[in-house]
Order: sequence, then structure tokens, then C-alpha cells
Amino acid sequence: MSSISLKDVSAAVMVVLLVCVSECKSMPDPRQREQMLQQELLQQIGGNMELNEAEKRMDSLLYMLKMKEITLSPFPPANHFFKVRHIIQQSPIFKLLQKMPKGAALHIHNSAMVSVDWLLNATYRPNCYICFTWDGSVRFTFSTSTPFPRWGCSFWKRLDILRASLGDVTSFDNSLMRNLTLFTEDPETSYPTQDCIWKRFEKIFIALSGLITYAPVLKDHIYQGLKELYEDNIMYVELRIGQAKAYELDGTTHDRAWTIEVYRNITEQFRANHPDFMGTRVILSAHRSSSVSRVKQAVQEAIEMQRKNPDIVAGFDLVGREDTGGSIWYFRDALSLPSESQLPYFFHAGETDLDGTDVDRNVLDALLFNTSRIGHGFAIVHHPVAKQLSRSRRVAVELCPISNQVLKLVSDLRNHPAAVLMSDGHPMVVSSDDPSLFGTTGLSYDFYEVFVGIGGLSANLGTLKELAINSIRYSSLSAQLQDKAMTVWQEKWNTFIAENS
Ligand SMILES: *[C@@H]1O[C@H](CO)[C@@H](O)[C@H](O)[C@H]1NC(C)=O
Ligand SMILES: *[C@@H]1O[C@H](CO)[C@@H](O)[C@H](O)[C@H]1NC(C)=O
Ligand SMILES: *[C@@H]1O[C@H](CO)[C@@H](O)[C@H](O)[C@H]1NC(C)=O
Ligand SMILES: *[C@@H]1O[C@H](CO)[C@@H](O)[C@H](O)[C@H]1NC(C)=O
Ligand SMILES: [Zn+2]
Repeated sequence: MSSISLKDVSAAVMVVLLVCVSECKSMPDPRQREQMLQQELLQQIGGNMELNEAEKRMDSLLYMLKMKEITLSPFPPANHFFKVRHIIQQSPIFKLLQKMPKGAALHIHNSAMVSVDWLLNATYRPNCYICFTWDGSVRFTFSTSTPFPRWGCSFWKRLDILRASLGDVTSFDNSLMRNLTLFTEDPETSYPTQDCIWKRFEKIFIALSGLITYAPVLKDHIYQGLKELYEDNIMYVELRIGQAKAYELDGTTHDRAWTIEVYRNITEQFRANHPDFMGTRVILSAHRSSSVSRVKQAVQEAIEMQRKNPDIVAGFDLVGREDTGGSIWYFRDALSLPSESQLPYFFHAGETDLDGTDVDRNVLDALLFNTSRIGHGFAIVHHPVAKQLSRSRRVAVELCPISNQVLKLVSDLRNHPAAVLMSDGHPMVVSSDDPSLFGTTGLSYDFYEVFVGIGGLSANLGTLKELAINSIRYSSLSAQLQDKAMTVWQEKWNTFIAENS
């Protein structure tokens, strides 16, 4: 009997194994893989967007630029915006985004819409008084004579006299600017916790108040806000406006109706000089730290204002920190509308990481109250029912990435929960919340974070195009005005593509 050598055996095993690799194992079907990838791409925001030849060229260009951008160290979206703003400003993608017609800005607060340099300059106007508060902040007021005590301040100094007495006006002015913005070189040490930064945040709004509610400043401030948006290629804005009353030099104050008329007048003035700007609408807002009866009053006033000024008043919102303020459910009585009224709501909801608490249920409650959009909705991914409702009712989430990062809900923007919403084609718009506090202007910085960070490499020109279109389609403009805005936007978009592809 001829013996079979060990060598022969192992050779035979090898043959069997080799045959198995190609015939026994089940290798995934590459076509199925391709199909799955395509399916996901189609589902993401902008996935269904048809691109023409020029747009495809631009898309390839953006992809190449982004490939380069993700090798940057530090990679901007992974870092605190304050530390990388100067790097973003040099980015070729950012420069393209600045030129891109972005449509509308739907989530901006009126008190924080201009750059801080402009605010400082406003303190140089005649009759400006300043007061230094016990807690290291400032208050401003304009007056012909020594001001009445306001905001707990009884000791006012006239700013021009004070400045004339100072050796180093520049460092004084820098300290004033620090009082009016959160922007700083070392955000992690300056703002170690959410509590700490929210305290500073609310303080800034109080410091700003006397400056920007002085009637002449208010008017120029609105104009400047529109100008900064327009220069960033935004064509329409919806502003959350607070309850502070405008005042004159002699201390007299104006009511809400007057302020609304000013918004209308200044917008008309701006449109006369920039006919392709579509306008301003305002969302009247009350602070969530107010009492139920106060909010009830504010809702009633909003109903009346909206009825009288349907062209410019879009609806109502509750603002301020959700974690410490009253929840929507807490205010349910104040927010329940008489049946004949149809005041639209635009609630801030889910700007929190307190998963499972009453605050966290604001996203559900906002939808129960038929909100038209959801401000932030950072927590919505934890709520499948709210997410489903928001999608089926086309209630868009207003994503403000830089705001969420600065207010410490997320540090590396690649981990922002909106990444889930983006890959799922959820209704969404991009906005900037409080540009003067975060050191941004317009929407380009936030678009950059969304496009390069949150959306990652899969976000493409289709994504940007859909986000811009969304901002018009999810606005409170009538269907007819939306169509008009779309026509104007499309023309700008075509020019943008032609000039940059
Ligand atoms: C600064 O304010 C003055 C009015 O006080 C105005 O004339 C001037 O144009 C402003 N400059 C800038 C850069 O805004
Ligand atoms: C605000 O301005 C005052 C007066 O110049 C200054 O003492 C204080 O440090 C400033 N606050 C901040 C947060 O920079
Ligand atoms: C708005 O403009 C109209 C027309 O120019 C003017 O009569 C009215 O006083 C202005 N309103 C305010 C509040 O400035
Ligand atoms: C929300 O809208 C639905 C459908 O129109 C309506 O039945 C319901 O009463 C509204 N809810 C509130 C709180 O307004
Ligand atoms: Zn906001």
C-alpha cells in the first residue's frame, strides 16, 4: 500500500480550502452594497436634488476642497469655534459659502444681530451714560440730563466725559466689548460649565438692553442687522424680538405697536436700497423665567399684534434657558389659545441635554401646541414620536450649531445629533441664533460647521441647495411670497454657480 505523505494531505486540504474561498463562502454581493450606499445617499438632506452640469462641477470642486479640509490640524469643526474662527475665515469652502445665496435666516434674536464693533461705536453717540454694576457688568442709557435710576443703577457717568478722563481708551473699549459678547480666546477656562456660560449669556442681554432700545439706535441697529445679513447673501429674516420697550432721550417709552411699526419702516427703507431683499418678519417672544400670568399677557398681546399686523408679525415664542425656565407644559394654560385665534408658535424646544426630564419633553409639547418650527431641537433624536411628527407635519428643526457648541451641549461638532437628522433627510434649516454674542455674522459660519463638520464628507452641493430652499419653504411667508422668494433665490443661485463652478 502506498503511503500518503503528510505533504500530500496538506496539499489536498489546501485545494479544498481554495475551492471554498471562491465557491463555498458567501461573499456579500457588491451590487447590493452599491444599492445600499445609494439608498442612504438618496435619503440624506439634498439626496434627491437634481444637479445640472455646472452644479456637478461645483459639487466636485467642493468635494475636493473638503477632502483637503479634513486633513487640517486642528480640524475646525472638532474644536471650539472661538479658537478656530480665524482658521475658518481662511477656508476656501467658507469663502464660497459666504458668496452662496443661503435664502433666509429663521432663528436670530434681534438683540444679538450685529457685530460687536458696531455696538461699541454706538456707545460713542452723544448723551450716552454708563453705569458699572456690582457684579462687574455695565448698563447704558441715553439721556439729556442725569438719567433716572434704571436697572438698579443710580450712579451714571457720561461716557464722553469718562473717556476723556481715561489714559487708555482702547483697553477700556475692549472691556466694554467683552461685556457685549461671549467671544474670547480661551472659552474653556472662561466658561467651565453650562451654568456659568448661561449666566454670562443672560447678563449680556441685560447690558445690551439700554443701548439698543434707545429709539435712534434701535432704528440704525435694525438697519445694520439687515445689512450684515444681506452682505452674507441672506435675502429674508425672521427675528425673535423681546419685550423691552424703546425709549427716547427724555425718558418717554414706546409701546409694542410702535416697535413693530419701526421694524416695518426700517425694513421698507432697507428694501428701497436693496430691492432683492425680501423683508423681515418678527416672532414676539416672552422669557421662560416669567410668571404664567405674564406669559398669558404676552400671548394675548401677540394675538392682537398679529391680527393687526399680519404682514410682519409671524407669531410667538418662549425664549431663555430651558433647563432653568418654565417648560412649555408649565405654561400650558397661558399658551392655550381661544378658538377664534390662530397665533402661530415658533417654540424653542429641546435646547438641552437633560434627557428624560420635563424640560426634555418640550419638543413633544411644542408639537402638541402645533408649533410651526422647532428652535434647536437638539434633544429631538431622543424622541422617536416627536421626530416622526416633526417629519410628517413638516415642522422644521432650526439648527444653530455654533450656539449649541458655545452653550456647551456638544464640543466636537461631528458628534452633533443633527448628523442623524441630516442623514435621514429630516426637515431642517440652518441659523445663527445670536451672531454678536458668538462673534459671527450672517449664516456662513454656521453653514460651514454644518457642511464640513456635522454633514461630513457625505454632505454635498445638493445638501446646501436643499438647506437654502428649506429656509424659504419653512418660513412663515405666504405661499405666494415664498414662490416669489424662490424665483429671486433661483436667479441668485444660478449666478453663484455660473461664477464659481
Ligand atoms: C460710528 O458711529 C457714527 C455715529 O456716531 C457713524 O457716523 C459712523 O458711521 C459709525 N462708524 C461705523 C464704522 O459704524
Ligand atoms: C465689563 O466692563 C467693566 C468696565 O470696564 C470691566 O471692569 C469688566 O471687567 C467687564 N466685564 C467683562 C466680563 O469683561
Ligand atoms: C413709519 O413711517 C411712516 C411713513 O413714513 C411714518 O408716518 C411713521 O411715523 C413711521 N413710524 C415710526 C414708528 O417711526
Ligand atoms: C393643533 O392642531 C390640531 C389640528 O388642526 C387641532 O385639532 C388642535 O386643537 C391644535 N392644538 C392646539 C393646542 O392648538
Ligand atoms: Zn434662540
